[in-house]
Amino acid sequence: PVVGVSMPHESATLHVTGTALYTDDLVHRTKDVLHAYPVQVMKAHGRITALRTEPALAVPGVVRVLTGADVPGVNDAGMKHDEPLFPNEVMFYGHAVAWVLGETLEAARLGAAAVEVELDEQPSVITLQDAIAADSFHGARPVMLTGDVDSGFADSAHVFTGEFQFSDQEHFYLETHAALAHIDESEQVFVQSSTQHPSETQEIVAHVLGLHSHEVTVQCLRMGGGFGGKEMQPHGFAAVAALGAKLTGRPVRLRLNRTQDLTMSGKRHGFHAQWKIGFDADGRIRALDATLTADGGWSLDLSEPVVARALCHIDNTYWIPNARIAGRIAKTNKVSNTAFRGFGGPQGMLVIEDIMGRCAPLLGLDPMELRERNFYQQGQATPYGQQVSQPERISAVWQKTLDNGGVADRKREIAAFNAAHPHTKRALAVTGIKFGISFNLTAFNQGGALVLIYKDGSVLINHGGTEMGQGLHTKMLQVAATTLGIPLHKVRLAPTRTDKVPNTSATAASSGADLNGAAVKNACEQLRERLLSVAASQLGSNASDVRIVEGVARTLGSDKELAWDDLVRTAYFQRVQLSAAGFYRTEGLHWDAKTFRGSPFKYFSYGAAAAEVEVDGFTGAYRIRRVDIVHDVGDSLSPMIDIGQVEGGFVQGAGWLTLEDMRWDATDGPNRGRLLTQAASTYKLPSFSEMPEEFNVTLLENATEEGSVYGSKAVGEPPLMLAFSVREALRQAAAAFGPSGASVELASPATPEAVYWAIETAHRGD
Ligand code: MTE
Ligand code: HPA
Repeated sequence: PVVGVSMPHESATLHVTGTALYTDDLVHRTKDVLHAYPVQVMKAHGRITALRTEPALAVPGVVRVLTGADVPGVNDAGMKHDEPLFPNEVMFYGHAVAWVLGETLEAARLGAAAVEVELDEQPSVITLQDAIAADSFHGARPVMLTGDVDSGFADSAHVFTGEFQFSDQEHFYLETHAALAHIDESEQVFVQSSTQHPSETQEIVAHVLGLHSHEVTVQCLRMGGGFGGKEMQPHGFAAVAALGAKLTGRPVRLRLNRTQDLTMSGKRHGFHAQWKIGFDADGRIRALDATLTADGGWSLDLSEPVVARALCHIDNTYWIPNARIAGRIAKTNKVSNTAFRGFGGPQGMLVIEDIMGRCAPLLGLDPMELRERNFYQQGQATPYGQQVSQPERISAVWQKTLDNGGVADRKREIAAFNAAHPHTKRALAVTGIKFGISFNLTAFNQGGALVLIYKDGSVLINHGGTEMGQGLHTKMLQVAATTLGIPLHKVRLAPTRTDKVPNTSATAASSGADLNGAAVKNACEQLRERLLSVAASQLGSNASDVRIVEGVARTLGSDKELAWDDLVRTAYFQRVQLSAAGFYRTEGLHWDAKTFRGSPFKYFSYGAAAAEVEVDGFTGAYRIRRVDIVHDVGDSLSPMIDIGQVEGGFVQGAGWLTLEDMRWDATDGPNRGRLLTQAASTYKLPSFSEMPEEFNVTLLENATEEGSVYGSKAVGEPPLMLAFSVREALRQAAAAFGPSGASVELASPATPEAVYWAIETAHRGD
């Protein structure tokens, strides 16, 4: 079978030779293109009192300036209707208030610089602390309750409290936001967009232009990375390009340069957590009371579902019988924070892992022991009421990680190394993850596909998912070839388009292969059934006895055979329909956002990681010496793709937790609200030098997931959280510089500087 075989990414050769086309590359194939450039206002907050566009029109090459007055439909780019596309109020430093269209990018840039904006400046809220102090919140304020928290604390032998604030994260996809719009020969608006959510981009474009969805088609060829940053944020850019095309009758290209992308697009939410936890005498969690505050930025965007997922993941792999977890969204004068790989899950899980890391020494327990004692057991439910299926997999991946990593021996070696080295310390930490798969909002858990077989036997598949480098298309080719029983080269995949599959969900929540794979499989099964009947009539047998394998139809117990191409041609002449629409909806889900209870996830994904670090006591500089991971992807659809996802997710998580230090100017000066880290020179991303020196990734074996496409599980997001192991190893290494049993607080990101300060506190023993 083709499913389960390791294959390179379907565009790997194009990627590595620089010949894969991305949205903005299509400009070179398009005539008479106009270039769009934003008029960004460099103040954190203020009402616009005057917007003068005439000076821009005087700049040679400027064709038009788009403002709110040009919008024929709704002047809004968000799903919560709180995101004016052309705002009257500047809400963050760098907010675009108008767009200039020019014959060249340079003309548009000069035109944008010439637009005059007057502002009645308003007070601004920049930091999460200031937002909390000022009671500046927006959106839902959910509370998740389970058991009886008060009696849980009363039963606790140890109660600890703490606070933890951790940073936001930049997506830093290689391809910045891009859209290219034109009015096509049928008068419809056609937008090429680098979007994870073509259907929603289509919806917003239609709203802004005052059109129906059937007058707008959005195509996503591929993305040079999305990571959640292109789940909701592309819509406005696509709408600006489409508006420009509609008004000028010419194609309009909009591509943000890196600084524009960094200053205009939302990031992973930074969070603040206030917590109180109770443990019994054996270190088992009895109660947790916590308030999580997400930095939402200026508009809601996806902040509400992000906070919901954070709450639904604060338990991670641990049973918490009594809990009260509140969530809220700070409104700040910064970019609107959005989806980012894990979608609040990492933030919720980081809070509990930080608590475990801080409390283990206070309980006199090895952190590994504390974690193990609290793992979910059969029959236990999450704080939102879902039974934890397969809790035995937590111990399975954990134990395998310990074995693969030789953890017991290495801990002894590390103890000996540390005893002999006063100024350099090593530590090894093991952490696990449990991540819920499905969108919390039940309606999003559907997928669609359209599969076409042509007379020559070649197959073209369309599905609702988008390709952002994660290998979804590779997996879909494998699913189609396997289901139809034909070699992979017979199948081709078309770019994602809203006129092929309607009303799709975002390619997000790691659900791309689950939802679209099941829809592709469904379409292929319909076609296979029809073709089996045709084959049976040709082979003189029952359809139930015919199999199509590697492009040949055969009957059991007979050597008569019919080649795929002949079978298809015969079917055509018999007037058998050779196309099918496939559909899939995840059954058995329910979620009540009001009571914050239900079973929102089809299953959980599990993994464990063991990370060893070495820290220099003088500087806090560190190396990741070795990482061992065992991750559960069910029966992998495409093992090489999945291992790549685990490696990439882990490294992106390690970047968030240890390197990527986003800074905003919160001083009262003229640059208040400015993103200080607005280039790769000041925002440190993981690179080769930060890779683990030894990096072993293993997929859990014999892990068939019943009821999922070919027994597979989602992979995209969960591995990011395996990087907790690095952070915990750094904490333990810092602690090793102090008296034994010290509880060490570690900032996040745990940059060398942060580790240095953690060592200082460990030394002082406070
Ligand atoms: N891998 C690459 N190379 N590029 C990406 O942008 N996005 C991640 C993950 N892996 C991403 C990636 C995110 S945020 C998600 S939700 C999933 O891929 C989405 O794809 P899937 O649902 O097909 O796994
Ligand atoms: N990840 C997880 N859950 C989600 C997402 C996502 O990107 N989008 C909506 N729910």
